[in-house]
Amino acid sequence: MQSIVILISGTGSNMQAIVQTAQREGWAGRYGARIAAIISNRSDAAGLAWAREEGIETVVVDHRAYASREAFDAALMAAIDRYAAGARPLVILAGFMRILTPGFVRHYEECLVNIHPSLLPAFPGLHTHQRAIEMGCRFAGATVHRVTEALDCGEILAQTAVPVLPDDTPDTLAARVLTQEHLIYPRAIADLLRGERGDQVHARPCP
Ligand code: GRF
Repeated sequence: MQSIVILISGTGSNMQAIVQTAQREGWAGRYGARIAAIISNRSDAAGLAWAREEGIETVVVDHRAYASREAFDAALMAAIDRYAAGARPLVILAGFMRILTPGFVRHYEECLVNIHPSLLPAFPGLHTHQRAIEMGCRFAGATVHRVTEALDCGEILAQTAVPVLPDDTPDTLAARVLTQEHLIYPRAIADLLRGERGDQVHARPCP
């Protein structure tokens, strides 16, 4: 059985979309994959309560309890690997707001994916919607990508684009993008479980 572990820090709406798709499509029977746990670095992450109600195991690894990034990541790896079930788990970052150390990224190489709310390689980092509006972009979107040591720079697995409307604020644009994230993230994970690359646009070398 392929274990899937989802890391969140807040609302977890992408996590919810992934869990609901996995249940609806029967990923256990279809791909031999199960969502083993939801892990958060914040005990007050709203998504944790939702996951518990769904009967999914939840774990909190509070980053404030660790003196360094390395110590936090070591604890996080130990928490994730408890769900390894014989094979490396697929680790899904879904609004997980911590920068991961190179050691963590190498440990889950090829098995670590993220969704970023921009059309990468445009606007890596924070405040993507505000920056897209300020630059006069006509389109914004989101990208599912593999995680590498360079921030928001791994291989693109899926993308979605939405128009930027004249009256958009960062919040209205973020909401429009988020509804599309909920569609492409579960699809991209299902493609990975099937061993396909889905609607990937192109493989992009990192600088
Ligand atoms: C999403 O916009 C995602 O692209 C970004 O963080 C946000 C998480 O939202 N990485 P949610 O917690 O999934 O609702």
